[in-house]
Amino acid sequence: MKKMMKIIMVVLVGIMMVGCGSSDDGNVKKIYVGTNAEFAPFEFLKDGKTVGFDMELIEEISKEIGIDIEIKDMSFDGLLPALQAKKIDMIIAGMTSTEERKKSVNFTNSYYIANQVIITAKELGNIATFDELKGKKVGVILGFTGDVVVSKIDGVEVKKYNAGYVAIMDLKAGKIDAVVLDSEPAKNFIKNNDGIKIASAKGDKEEYAMAVYKDNIELLEKINKALMVLKENGTYDGLLKKWF
Ligand SMILES: *[C@@H]1O[C@H](CO)[C@@H](O)[C@H](O)[C@H]1NC(C)=O
Ligand SMILES: *[C@@H]1O[C@H](CO)[C@@H](O)[C@H](O)[C@H]1NC(C)=O
Repeated sequence: MKKMMKIIMVVLVGIMMVGCGSSDDGNVKKIYVGTNAEFAPFEFLKDGKTVGFDMELIEEISKEIGIDIEIKDMSFDGLLPALQAKKIDMIIAGMTSTEERKKSVNFTNSYYIANQVIITAKELGNIATFDELKGKKVGVILGFTGDVVVSKIDGVEVKKYNAGYVAIMDLKAGKIDAVVLDSEPAKNFIKNNDGIKIASAKGDKEEYAMAVYKDNIELLEKINKALMVLKENGTYDGLLKKWF
């Protein structure tokens, strides 16, 4: 009986040591990826899972690099602080690599070119420039590029939302005159909602990139290299076709 106990103990201790060893051998095997799953078709929830272009892209990148990833879904304006606090290792969230954000994090090479558009009710006349938003009630999503763009235009009554679909609901209910949003999610809302349209005004081109915390150059370079491989071997184009 004593001998049996001893064997069990040895086995148990052995298992514990293996457990420690694998998480402590200096090689990063798993990284935490922050996103905000309210940005279809880049990232959104479907049957409780985060899916979309970004999700499949980072999955392919992780395979190429040889690491596991775990997605952390959080509010968009919580992403940069979480990354700076190293609670997550990187961000993929349809995030534009602006000069302002570059002050706090490092961005990878860009993986998508987008621009801001204006969504209005169908019956409203066309809006041809962003300056024409003057005097209007305009919905933006907190921390999104649209928030920054619209907040710079004088004389706009800005209403900030935590999620795009809430802004669209208010627009359809006539509570606001317009919503400023990135082009792809805007198209997605138009597809799924009656009575709204995209105005002809186009914002400046902007580049979506993934972010890592400052000086995590190793991960940054691995991602850039993997992105290049995926662009060259057709995986990236396949994902574009699938999601846009
Ligand atoms: C391209 O590379 C990725 C990552 O290594 C791999 O998963 C994928 O199967 C490759 N695709 C093709 C068409 O070779
Ligand atoms: C990372 O950010 C620092 C500080 O802004 C910058 O000097 C550096 O060039 C960036 N590194 C890369 C690889 O982009």
